[in-house]
Amino acid sequence: MDTIELPEPDPDGQLSVERAIATRASRRTFASDPVTLEDVSQLLWAAQGITHVRSGVRMRAAPSAGATYPLETVLEVAPDGCEALEASLYRYEQATHRLEQIHAEPCHDELTAAALGQDVVRDAPATIALAANVDRTRRQYPAHADRYVHMEAGHVAENVHLVCESRELNTCPVGAFSDDEVRDVLELSDDLEPLYLLPFGNRPPTQSGRD
Ligand SMILES: Cc1cc2nc3c(=O)[nH]c(=O)nc-3n(C[C@H](O)[C@H](O)[C@H](O)COP(=O)(O)O)c2cc1C
Repeated sequence: MDTIELPEPDPDGQLSVERAIATRASRRTFASDPVTLEDVSQLLWAAQGITHVRSGVRMRAAPSAGATYPLETVLEVAPDGCEALEASLYRYEQATHRLEQIHAEPCHDELTAAALGQDVVRDAPATIALAANVDRTRRQYPAHADRYVHMEAGHVAENVHLVCESRELNTCPVGAFSDDEVRDVLELSDDLEPLYLLPFGNRPPTQSGRD
Protein backbone atom coordinates (compact mmCIF):
# COMPACT_ATOMS: atom_id res chain seq x y z
CA MET A 1 0.00 0.00 0.00
CA ASP A 2 1.25 3.43 -0.94
CA THR A 3 2.05 6.55 1.05
CA ILE A 4 1.43 9.70 -0.98
CA GLU A 5 3.03 13.05 -0.16
CA LEU A 6 0.47 15.74 -0.86
CA PRO A 7 1.45 19.06 -2.46
CA GLU A 8 1.97 21.93 -0.06
CA PRO A 9 -1.41 23.58 0.67
CA ASP A 10 -1.85 27.15 -0.57
CA PRO A 11 -3.33 29.40 2.12
CA ASP A 12 -4.07 32.18 -0.42
CA GLY A 13 -7.06 31.27 -2.53
CA GLN A 14 -8.41 33.15 -5.52
CA LEU A 15 -11.79 34.09 -4.03
CA SER A 16 -12.70 36.14 -0.98
CA VAL A 17 -14.39 34.25 1.84
CA GLU A 18 -17.41 36.51 1.44
CA ARG A 19 -17.69 35.74 -2.28
CA ALA A 20 -17.39 32.02 -1.56
CA ILE A 21 -20.20 32.28 0.99
CA ALA A 22 -22.32 34.28 -1.44
CA THR A 23 -21.99 31.81 -4.31
CA ARG A 24 -21.83 28.51 -2.38
CA ALA A 25 -24.53 25.98 -3.10
CA SER A 26 -24.90 22.22 -2.95
CA ARG A 27 -24.06 21.13 -6.48
CA ARG A 28 -24.64 17.50 -7.35
CA THR A 29 -23.23 17.16 -10.88
CA PHE A 30 -19.63 16.88 -11.98
CA ALA A 31 -17.52 17.16 -15.11
CA SER A 32 -16.07 13.87 -16.29
CA ASP A 33 -12.42 14.88 -15.92
CA PRO A 34 -10.44 13.77 -12.86
CA VAL A 35 -9.62 16.03 -9.95
CA THR A 36 -6.01 17.03 -9.37
CA LEU A 37 -3.78 16.09 -6.46
CA GLU A 38 -3.60 19.84 -5.70
CA ASP A 39 -7.39 19.88 -5.28
CA VAL A 40 -7.24 16.85 -3.00
CA SER A 41 -4.45 18.41 -0.97
CA GLN A 42 -6.22 21.73 -0.62
CA LEU A 43 -9.53 20.17 0.46
CA LEU A 44 -7.98 17.80 2.99
CA TRP A 45 -5.97 20.66 4.43
CA ALA A 46 -9.14 22.77 4.68
CA ALA A 47 -10.85 19.85 6.42
CA GLN A 48 -8.30 18.84 9.04
CA GLY A 49 -4.87 20.14 8.04
CA ILE A 50 -2.45 21.50 10.61
CA THR A 51 -2.43 25.29 10.62
CA HIS A 52 -0.24 26.04 13.65
CA VAL A 53 1.13 24.62 16.89
CA ARG A 54 -0.11 25.85 20.27
CA SER A 55 1.49 24.66 23.52
CA GLY A 56 2.91 21.69 21.67
CA VAL A 57 -0.46 20.68 20.19
CA ARG A 58 -0.91 20.59 16.42
CA MET A 59 -3.95 22.76 15.82
CA ARG A 60 -6.18 21.97 12.84
CA ALA A 61 -8.03 24.03 10.23
CA ALA A 62 -11.42 23.60 11.92
CA PRO A 63 -12.20 24.31 15.59
CA SER A 64 -12.53 21.43 18.03
CA ALA A 65 -14.03 21.45 21.54
CA GLY A 66 -11.06 21.56 23.91
CA ALA A 67 -8.81 20.69 20.95
CA THR A 68 -9.82 17.05 21.51
CA TYR A 69 -9.82 16.42 17.75
CA PRO A 70 -12.18 13.44 17.48
CA LEU A 71 -12.41 13.43 13.67
CA GLU A 72 -10.70 11.09 11.24
CA THR A 73 -10.65 11.86 7.53
CA VAL A 74 -10.84 9.23 4.80
CA LEU A 75 -10.61 9.86 1.06
CA GLU A 76 -12.35 7.59 -1.42
CA VAL A 77 -11.25 7.88 -5.04
CA ALA A 78 -13.42 6.53 -7.86
CA PRO A 79 -11.92 4.79 -10.91
CA ASP A 80 -10.20 7.55 -12.95
CA GLY A 81 -11.28 10.01 -10.28
CA CYS A 82 -7.89 11.58 -9.60
CA GLU A 83 -5.00 11.81 -12.02
CA ALA A 84 -2.42 10.92 -9.38
CA LEU A 85 -4.24 8.35 -7.24
CA GLU A 86 -5.43 4.80 -7.71
CA ALA A 87 -9.11 4.15 -7.22
CA SER A 88 -9.00 3.16 -3.59
CA LEU A 89 -9.33 4.34 0.00
CA TYR A 90 -6.85 6.54 1.81
CA ARG A 91 -6.50 7.82 5.36
CA TYR A 92 -5.47 11.46 5.64
CA GLU A 93 -2.53 11.86 8.01
CA GLN A 94 -2.77 15.53 8.92
CA ALA A 95 0.44 15.57 10.96
CA THR A 96 2.48 14.83 7.83
CA HIS A 97 -0.04 16.00 5.20
CA ARG A 98 0.13 12.59 3.54
CA LEU A 99 -2.29 9.95 2.37
CA GLU A 100 -1.93 6.37 3.55
CA GLN A 101 -3.60 3.91 1.23
CA ILE A 102 -5.75 1.58 3.34
CA HIS A 103 -7.40 -0.54 0.67
CA ALA A 104 -6.07 -2.14 -2.49
CA GLU A 105 -9.22 -2.14 -4.62
CA PRO A 106 -11.78 0.41 -5.82
CA CYS A 107 -14.81 0.58 -3.52
CA HIS A 108 -16.81 3.25 -5.32
CA ASP A 109 -19.87 1.12 -6.07
CA GLU A 110 -19.98 -0.05 -2.45
CA LEU A 111 -19.78 3.51 -1.12
CA THR A 112 -22.52 4.61 -3.53
CA ALA A 113 -24.74 1.75 -2.34
CA ALA A 114 -24.02 2.66 1.29
CA ALA A 115 -25.12 6.22 0.48
CA LEU A 116 -28.51 4.85 -0.57
CA GLY A 117 -27.50 4.88 -4.23
CA GLN A 118 -27.38 8.67 -4.38
CA ASP A 119 -26.25 9.98 -7.77
CA VAL A 120 -24.08 12.64 -6.17
CA VAL A 121 -21.86 9.97 -4.64
CA ARG A 122 -21.95 7.72 -7.71
CA ASP A 123 -20.98 10.58 -10.06
CA ALA A 124 -18.31 12.16 -7.86
CA PRO A 125 -14.67 11.44 -8.75
CA ALA A 126 -13.77 11.52 -5.06
CA THR A 127 -15.37 11.74 -1.64
CA ILE A 128 -14.04 12.97 1.68
CA ALA A 129 -15.58 10.99 4.53
CA LEU A 130 -15.57 12.19 8.14
CA ALA A 131 -15.72 9.76 11.03
CA ALA A 132 -15.51 10.48 14.75
CA ASN A 133 -14.07 8.86 17.82
CA VAL A 134 -16.58 10.48 20.19
CA ASP A 135 -14.83 9.09 23.27
CA ARG A 136 -11.90 11.43 22.67
CA THR A 137 -14.24 14.35 23.29
CA ARG A 138 -16.38 12.56 25.90
CA ARG A 139 -13.43 12.13 28.25
CA GLN A 140 -13.26 15.91 28.56
CA TYR A 141 -16.95 16.73 28.04
CA PRO A 142 -19.04 13.76 29.29
CA ALA A 143 -22.39 15.52 28.97
CA HIS A 144 -21.98 17.25 25.62
CA ALA A 145 -19.61 15.15 23.53
CA ASP A 146 -22.12 14.04 20.88
CA ARG A 147 -23.28 17.59 20.34
CA TYR A 148 -19.76 18.96 20.13
CA VAL A 149 -18.56 16.32 17.69
CA HIS A 150 -21.49 16.92 15.36
CA MET A 151 -20.84 20.66 15.49
CA GLU A 152 -17.25 19.99 14.60
CA ALA A 153 -18.17 17.93 11.55
CA GLY A 154 -20.25 20.89 10.40
CA HIS A 155 -17.27 23.22 10.70
CA VAL A 156 -15.17 20.86 8.62
CA ALA A 157 -17.84 20.39 5.96
CA GLU A 158 -18.24 24.14 5.57
CA ASN A 159 -14.48 24.62 5.20
CA VAL A 160 -14.49 22.00 2.46
CA HIS A 161 -17.52 23.53 0.83
CA LEU A 162 -16.02 27.02 0.74
CA VAL A 163 -12.69 25.84 -0.63
CA CYS A 164 -14.57 23.90 -3.30
CA GLU A 165 -16.28 27.16 -4.20
CA SER A 166 -12.95 28.97 -4.30
CA ARG A 167 -11.54 26.36 -6.71
CA GLU A 168 -14.70 26.06 -8.82
CA LEU A 169 -15.26 22.52 -7.69
CA ASN A 170 -18.71 21.15 -6.98
CA THR A 171 -19.72 19.44 -3.76
CA CYS A 172 -22.78 18.55 -1.75
CA PRO A 173 -22.76 17.40 1.88
CA VAL A 174 -24.30 13.95 2.26
CA GLY A 175 -25.71 12.79 5.57
CA ALA A 176 -28.18 10.21 4.27
CA PHE A 177 -26.43 6.84 4.36
CA SER A 178 -26.43 3.50 6.11
CA ASP A 179 -24.08 3.84 9.09
CA ASP A 180 -23.25 0.14 9.11
CA GLU A 181 -22.55 -0.03 5.38
CA VAL A 182 -20.40 3.11 5.37
CA ARG A 183 -18.50 1.75 8.38
CA ASP A 184 -17.85 -1.49 6.50
CA VAL A 185 -16.86 0.14 3.21
CA LEU A 186 -14.50 2.61 4.85
CA GLU A 187 -13.05 -0.13 7.08
CA LEU A 188 -13.61 2.01 10.16
CA SER A 189 -12.50 0.59 13.49
CA ASP A 190 -15.20 -0.03 16.12
CA ASP A 191 -14.43 3.22 17.92
CA LEU A 192 -15.22 5.33 14.84
CA GLU A 193 -18.66 6.54 13.88
CA PRO A 194 -19.26 7.71 10.29
CA LEU A 195 -20.69 11.24 10.21
CA TYR A 196 -20.52 12.88 6.83
CA LEU A 197 -19.71 12.28 3.17
CA LEU A 198 -18.42 15.16 1.07
CA PRO A 199 -18.35 14.08 -2.59
CA PHE A 200 -16.56 16.54 -4.88
CA GLY A 201 -15.43 17.00 -8.44
CA ASN A 202 -14.90 19.49 -11.22
CA ARG A 203 -17.72 21.82 -12.16
CA PRO A 204 -19.33 21.01 -15.54
CA PRO A 205 -18.21 23.68 -18.04
CA THR A 206 -21.79 24.56 -18.94
CA GLN A 207 -22.99 25.03 -15.37
CA SER A 208 -23.94 28.61 -14.62
CA GLY A 209 -26.63 28.40 -11.94
CA ARG A 210 -26.70 26.69 -8.56
CA ASP A 211 -28.16 23.30 -9.51
C1 LIG B 1 -26.57 17.58 7.55
C2 LIG B 1 -26.89 17.64 6.07
C3 LIG B 1 -27.13 16.46 5.38
C4 LIG B 1 -27.39 16.50 4.02
N1 LIG B 1 -27.55 15.32 3.35
C5 LIG B 1 -27.77 15.35 2.01
C6 LIG B 1 -27.87 14.14 1.30
O1 LIG B 1 -27.77 13.05 1.85
N2 LIG B 1 -28.07 14.22 -0.04
C7 LIG B 1 -28.17 15.42 -0.70
O2 LIG B 1 -28.34 15.41 -1.91
N3 LIG B 1 -28.06 16.59 -0.03
C8 LIG B 1 -27.85 16.59 1.30
N4 LIG B 1 -27.68 17.76 1.97
C9 LIG B 1 -27.68 19.05 1.24
C10 LIG B 1 -28.99 19.82 1.45
O3 LIG B 1 -30.03 19.24 0.72
C11 LIG B 1 -28.75 21.28 1.02
O4 LIG B 1 -27.77 21.85 1.86
C12 LIG B 1 -30.04 22.10 1.13
O5 LIG B 1 -30.95 21.72 0.13
C13 LIG B 1 -29.77 23.60 1.01
O6 LIG B 1 -29.18 23.89 -0.24
P1 LIG B 1 -27.76 24.61 -0.38
O7 LIG B 1 -26.73 23.74 0.29
O8 LIG B 1 -27.54 24.69 -1.87
O9 LIG B 1 -27.84 25.94 0.27
C14 LIG B 1 -27.43 17.74 3.34
C15 LIG B 1 -27.16 18.92 4.04
C16 LIG B 1 -26.89 18.87 5.38
C17 LIG B 1 -26.58 20.16 6.11
